[in-house]
Amino acid sequence: MTTYTITTKPTKTECLIIPVFEQADLPKVAKELDEQFGGTLHRMVETKDFEGKKLQTALFYTEQTDLPRLLFIGLGKQEELTMRRYKQAIGSAVILAQGKKLRKLAIVLPEPVVKELGARDVGEDTVIAVETAGYAYDSHKQKDDRVQSIQSVGLVLSSGTYRRSIEAGVKDGQIVAASINFTRELGNTPPSIMTPTLLASEAKKLSKISPNVSVTILGREQAKKLGMGCFLGVAQGSEQEPKFIIVEYNGGKKTDKPTVLVGKGITFDSGGLSLKPGDYMIDMKYDMLGAATVLGSIRAVAALGLKKNVIAIAPACENMPSGKAYRPDDILVAMNGKSVLVENTDAEGRLILADALCYAAKFKPKEVIDFATLTGACLVALGNERSGLFTPEDALAEKLSTASEQAGEQLWRLPVGEEYSEAMKSEIADIKNLGGVGGARFAGASTAAAFLQYFTDYPWAHIDLSCSYYGGKGKPWIRYGANGFGVATMVEYLRK
Ligand code: BES
Ligand code: MN
Ligand code: ZN
Repeated sequence: MTTYTITTKPTKTECLIIPVFEQADLPKVAKELDEQFGGTLHRMVETKDFEGKKLQTALFYTEQTDLPRLLFIGLGKQEELTMRRYKQAIGSAVILAQGKKLRKLAIVLPEPVVKELGARDVGEDTVIAVETAGYAYDSHKQKDDRVQSIQSVGLVLSSGTYRRSIEAGVKDGQIVAASINFTRELGNTPPSIMTPTLLASEAKKLSKISPNVSVTILGREQAKKLGMGCFLGVAQGSEQEPKFIIVEYNGGKKTDKPTVLVGKGITFDSGGLSLKPGDYMIDMKYDMLGAATVLGSIRAVAALGLKKNVIAIAPACENMPSGKAYRPDDILVAMNGKSVLVENTDAEGRLILADALCYAAKFKPKEVIDFATLTGACLVALGNERSGLFTPEDALAEKLSTASEQAGEQLWRLPVGEEYSEAMKSEIADIKNLGGVGGARFAGASTAAAFLQYFTDYPWAHIDLSCSYYGGKGKPWIRYGANGFGVATMVEYLRK
């Protein structure tokens, strides 16, 4: 656990992180610091080695033993400042410092940043940036090779004016960050360990957060009784028992309609009998990140004690080939009675979500938002730093986009519509699980969304999370693997 203190003067820190804009008065800033530390910082500016360009870094060594290093990190142009940019800068600096095995850090919270983004939010998001950057999935490595956790962070303010707001933000930030890293840990865990059963037991633990949280796990028999033919169809090829996870948080009034979050929980997607080629099967442990996102979100919302009723639903199973596996040409019947022709067993996410979306209707929801690593097509369209947003509701789209911006995450709206819905109709069943507009699989992300829409009769939005992990690479501000996309956005969304 990292401890945070708010101070106007950093002491006993191994490294002071100083975020700076690309700006004209950089020489002045350098000169002031020179006076403070008796160094030659002005040279770094004069030589133009450091200009404050985005994510540019410069490391300095001082003569002061209680403050031996200054790490400058560029924020880029002031007029381009966003929460996303700010978090990336802080995260990059933290990872750089960890690379030098530093554990006691201090971070200057520049007044223009605080003024522009808001003191509470800067407090919260600084902590989120530090903790998400600090996290590494390395428990399988030798101890000596693991990333050392950050011990302490001093948040340095130029005056006491914003202290209280920052303090409140820091408290919330620790909760949100822990929830994001919880989601990431679930996602990063290897697929033979992170089975539907383990995912369900992780969900069960959420009831410890607050007496307002209750968890229900349905097994195969109960799912059968409910008529979840699509979910069970996908699950039947696997040795692993399917688990249908429901987490309820009642923070609002009894009469408040709940927001229901639905998340795809395929703990490993081999493609089933429509087997994926080997290269495409890598990273399919992450196919449960929709489930992990809704669990992380409800964890955060409950721990923050938001006055809302929120329900997380996560159908969890494996998609495996075997003699028992469901087959292309099978017809499955969902909980609402709609029949689905299976054209490809690799389009399994939409099938398990079909039953989960039907189940969500039981709660008479205010709205349902689903999260799913649903299509490679969405990844091809948007890349790995943005998620696709699909909804017929303009107001909901607007609210979700605003929330994601505040969280420093990125959503991009893509269409649902008649042509996509038409493409999913079948000759021999109500619908089929594969379709395209104008060509096989054309508009794959939108046809997948249109498929889901057949199972909704309430305000609904779908978020295609195929960007929710960075595979082997990571980014300068966050390491390898699951990035926890969506948790911060949901917190912002539900706070409103
Ligand atoms: N889990 C995958 C989608 C995916 C692929 C997410 C790559 C992240 C990265 C999903 O179950 C899938 O296999 N989708 C197919 C659908 C197709 C068969 C219509 C796809 O995208 O190829
Ligand atoms: Mn698949
Ligand atoms: Zn999948």
